[in-house]
Amino acid sequence: MWRLVTSLTALVSTSKSSTLNQPASTSKIWKSFTTEMARHGISSHDCTPFITFVLGGPGSGKGTQCAKIVDTFGFKHLSAGDLLRREIASNSEYGSTILNTIKEGRIVPSAVTVKLIQREMESSDNHKFLIDGFPRSEENRIAFERIMGAEPNIVLFFDCPEEEMVKRVLSRNQGRVDDNLDTIKKRLKVFEALNLPVINYYAEKGKLYKKPICADQCIRNRR
Ligand code: C5P
Ligand code: MG
Repeated sequence: MWRLVTSLTALVSTSKSSTLNQPASTSKIWKSFTTEMARHGISSHDCTPFITFVLGGPGSGKGTQCAKIVDTFGFKHLSAGDLLRREIASNSEYGSTILNTIKEGRIVPSAVTVKLIQREMESSDNHKFLIDGFPRSEENRIAFERIMGAEPNIVLFFDCPEEEMVKRVLSRNQGRVDDNLDTIKKRLKVFEALNLPVINYYAEKGKLYKKPICADQCIRNRR
C-alpha cells in the first residue's frame, strides 16, 4: 500500500508483501495515487501540468511501474536516464560528458538534464507528466523549480532493499554501461548521499508516497 510519508524516519523498508506484478488498475497500491489526482481535480481537459516525480534506487522498479501508471492513467512518461542515454546516442555536444558521468555513476549537471526534460514537456500534448529518476539531487530539484517554475504535485518513492536492487540490476541484461557491480556500488552511494535528502524534502512537504518493495526472496518464502 502507498503510504504518505512525512519524515525521513519513516523511510525504512517494512513491507512483507509485493504487488509489483499486478496490473495497476486492479492493484490497491494505486488507490492513494488516484485519490491524490482527484484531490488536485485533474481531468483530461485540464491544461495545468500535473507533475509526478518517481524516485527510487537503481533497479527499484521505477520504469516497470511507470509503464503501468501510463497504461492506467495516461501519463506522459519521461525517464531522465533514458533522455540522457538518447542524448549520448544522438552524438550531441554533451554526449561524451554524459557518458563518462553515467559510467561513474555520478549525476549529470542539472542544466543539461532539466533542458532535456523541459524540451519533452513543452513539446507534449499531454499535461500529466511522470518524470522518472528525477530529481536525483538537491541541485536537480532546485534547477527544475527555477527553470520550469513548477513543483511536483506528488512524488512516488519505491523503497527497495539494497541487495535486491543489486540483484535486479545485475540480472536485467539491458546492455547498459553502468549495470556492473563497480558502478552499481557507486550509484548506491550517490543515491544515499544525494537522493535521500530530496526524498526527505518531499516527505517534509507532505508530497511523498512511499511504496516499500519486498525482495523476491520474501515472496518465495511465503509460497
Ligand atoms: O535512472 P537511471 O538508472 O536510468 O539513470 C542512469 C544514470 O543516469 C544515473 O546513474 C546517472 O548517472 C544519470 N542520471 C543523472 N541525473 C538524473 C537521472 C539519471 O545524472 N536525474
Ligand atoms: Mg529507468
